[in-house]
Amino acid sequence: MAGSIDYRLRHPGTQPELLYSPYVSSRKRAPTKPLIEIPHTISEITGPIFCAADISEGACDLTKQSAGTPIGERIVVSGRVMEEDARPVRNTLIEIWQANAAGRYLHKSDQHDAPLDPHFTGCGHTLTDDEGRYRFISVRPGAYPWRNHTNAWRPAHIHFSVFGPAFATRLITQMYFPGDALQTFDPIFNSIADAQARARLIAAFDWDTTIPETALGFRFDIVLRGRHATPMEK
Ligand SMILES: [Fe+2]
Repeated sequence: MAGSIDYRLRHPGTQPELLYSPYVSSRKRAPTKPLIEIPHTISEITGPIFCAADISEGACDLTKQSAGTPIGERIVVSGRVMEEDARPVRNTLIEIWQANAAGRYLHKSDQHDAPLDPHFTGCGHTLTDDEGRYRFISVRPGAYPWRNHTNAWRPAHIHFSVFGPAFATRLITQMYFPGDALQTFDPIFNSIADAQARARLIAAFDWDTTIPETALGFRFDIVLRGRHATPMEK
């Protein structure tokens, strides 16, 4: 807010740069003039508050949102949302969106030559529990081409939104998969200078949440602030 003092510790390189030239869109989006602080209004800092009644049944299982079954390798993505010092962030809305197994989004702006899946929307949501835990079932998203540069391909990823207690607290990030060769070449991933911070965006394969004969488990914890904070998009 205007006139407030920012006490947050800065950890250089652990959050994406606003201007990272290899990520071409950032050249247009990055501010070219000093930022102007706009005080939040009460509607932005007091809500909305979500509860279990707001969560549709099955919204956390992206393989069960249709009469049919989506194509792809089934995955379980779970983890905790935490403040620094591992304090749980309870009852917060988590939304995810992703491409299907062929790397195509169900969105009018994605018209690249890969098939849509009639049984997969790529969208899900859930609330964290008292320990800050969440869990989704989905299919592993495919890599997809984008026109950032010649022969540019995004590594497989899932977009995450963590809402928090109000519109003004919403945070957005992307989760990546371990062992994906495309990460090295991805300007969005590389817009975070610090290698350890980038590594915090890569989920860990997890036997404990792998369901025998059904789905591979991946663990992705989200830390909202502090030295081990998850990088978030500006
Ligand atoms: Fe994406």
